[in-house]
Formats: sequence, structure tokens, C-alpha cells
Amino acid sequence: MTVLLTGAAGRIGTALRERLPSFGWEVRGFDREAVPGGVAGDIGSAGDLDGALADGDVTAIVHLAGVPTEAPWPQLRAANVDGLYEVFEAARRHRVPRLVFASSNHAAGFTPNTPGPAADTAPRPDTLYGVTKAFGEALGRYYHDRYAMRVACLRIGTFAPAPHDARALATWLSPDDGARLVDACLRSPDLGFAIVWGVSANARNTWDHAAGRALGYEPRDDAERFAARLTDVEPRPTDALVGGEFTSAGYGIDEIGSDR
Ligand SMILES: NC(=O)c1ccc[n+]([C@@H]2O[C@H](COP(=O)([O-])OP(=O)(O)OC[C@H]3O[C@@H](n4cnc5c(N)ncnc54)[C@H](O)[C@@H]3O)[C@@H](O)[C@H]2O)c1
Repeated sequence: MTVLLTGAAGRIGTALRERLPSFGWEVRGFDREAVPGGVAGDIGSAGDLDGALADGDVTAIVHLAGVPTEAPWPQLRAANVDGLYEVFEAARRHRVPRLVFASSNHAAGFTPNTPGPAADTAPRPDTLYGVTKAFGEALGRYYHDRYAMRVACLRIGTFAPAPHDARALATWLSPDDGARLVDACLRSPDLGFAIVWGVSANARNTWDHAAGRALGYEPRDDAERFAARLTDVEPRPTDALVGGEFTSAGYGIDEIGSDR
């Protein structure tokens, strides 16, 4: 029941460190930032990952570490491509049978929101960041088909304590539902390879919950209870697409900077 949690010092990692133990999981954090009781290391280093897995007691990896937004390609490549590969490879070397990967809605960002897309709708990345997440999903499919690793890719919407704008009223993933989703993916005997929307039971959600439900994920939270308190409630034209603002011109390569 020991889970290696990469990115454990981050927003989602902190929320999962607080919640997964109550589902019966022992969490070993892994991050380049200090995590209480965790392992300090870089996902780009096979040696660091070997050290964290050396005891042979890890039954699953929850992989969150990486660049969580659009960024110049060299940064994305180091963490979200090369680092991601090192994590899958470490799982294979150490015979870890299950891996939960934090993909993103931005892997399919240019997909229209209506009619509600299935969780495994074809990749339509809205950014280079989204391209790295589509790569991660393809890598997961490969490790499942070739090495029988059980892999869940979570196309997470907007993870936050509360929704902050009109789009997030549809795309919010509450911290508690995030933990329920990860627990279901860690536990399900039916998991082979799956792509799942990471979204709460929001009244405004249009993304199909079927793939998550098939693994036992039952979201409980609804962003609607925050709607009356929001100040940023004007829907934007980009809200018609899964990726929202990331599909706008401001997220092009020239606009973000190439950092060559
Ligand atoms: N927050 C969201 O709404 C959201 C939505 C979709 C997908 N995701 C994905 O979920 C994951 C976690 O997101 P977050 O919001 O918690 O991000 P975050 O930036 O808060 O946390 C990421 C963590 O990864 C660590 N990290 C980065 N590069 C590393 C490396 N090379 N080696 C070791 N550790 C490294 C950082 O130190 C940080 O603690 C990311 O992969 C992100 O793309 C997040």
C-alpha cells in the first residue's frame, strides 16, 4: 500500500499527501523541493528515482511532477518529456505494476466542449504543454501494451480549493474529489489503460464521467455552490473549447517565449 508521489511538494501533491492516508495509502513523497518525510530528487535522474524505489515496497506511482502550464520548450522537454520517461522507466525496472499520470485537459484543449467529449477523445493539444501531456498518454499506452503496466491518465480540469471564474464552474476538480479519483485509480482491479477526466460533479460540467465511473470514481463536489460569490463570471469565447484561455492567441510559441 506504499505509493510514490512525485511532485509531492506542489499544489495537487500537497492535497494528496494530506488525503491519501485516510484511504489507507502510505505516501512517500518525491520532489526536488523539500517534502516532510519525503525523498528529495529530480525526476530527470534515474539514480534519484532508483533510490526512492530501492526498498521494493512501492506498489504504485502517482506521477504529478513537472511543469504545470505553458512554458518554453526546453523547460517542458526536461520535465514533461525526459523526466516523464525516466519515471515510467523506473517503474518498469522496479516492477511497479501501476502508475497514475497527471495528464491535463490541455492534451485535448481544442476539442469543443459540447457535445460532451469522452475522456479518451483524440488528442488536440492547445499548447506545447498539452503536447507533452499527449506524449505522456501515448507513453502510458505503450507501457501498458508492452509491459502490462496498469496506467491511468487523468485529464485534470481546474484543481483548486475553489473555482475562480466562469470556466472553472464547469472544469473544477475539488481536492477531495481529486483524492477520490486517485484512490479509485490506485485501487481498481479493472484498470488496464484508461484516460479519465479529472473533474468534479459540477452542474455545468460537459465532460463525460463514464471512464472514471468504470474505475469506481464517484465525484461528490459541485462548483455551483461557489457561483454566487464569484466576481469573474463573464464567460469567454474560448470557454466553448475544452482548454479555455489556453486556446487563445496569447498562448502561442512566440507569445510565451522560446527560451532557446
Ligand atoms: N493544477 C491543475 O489544475 C492541473 C490541471 C491539469 C493538470 N495538472 C498537472 O498536475 C501536476 C501537478 O500540478 P500542480 O498544480 O500541483 O503543479 P505544481 O507546480 O504546484 O507542482 C509540481 C511539483 O513538481 C515538482 N517538480 C517539477 N519539476 C520537477 C523535477 N524535475 N523533479 C522533481 N520534482 C519536480 C515541483 O517542485 C512542484 O512541487 C502537473 O503535472 C500538472 O501538469 C494540474
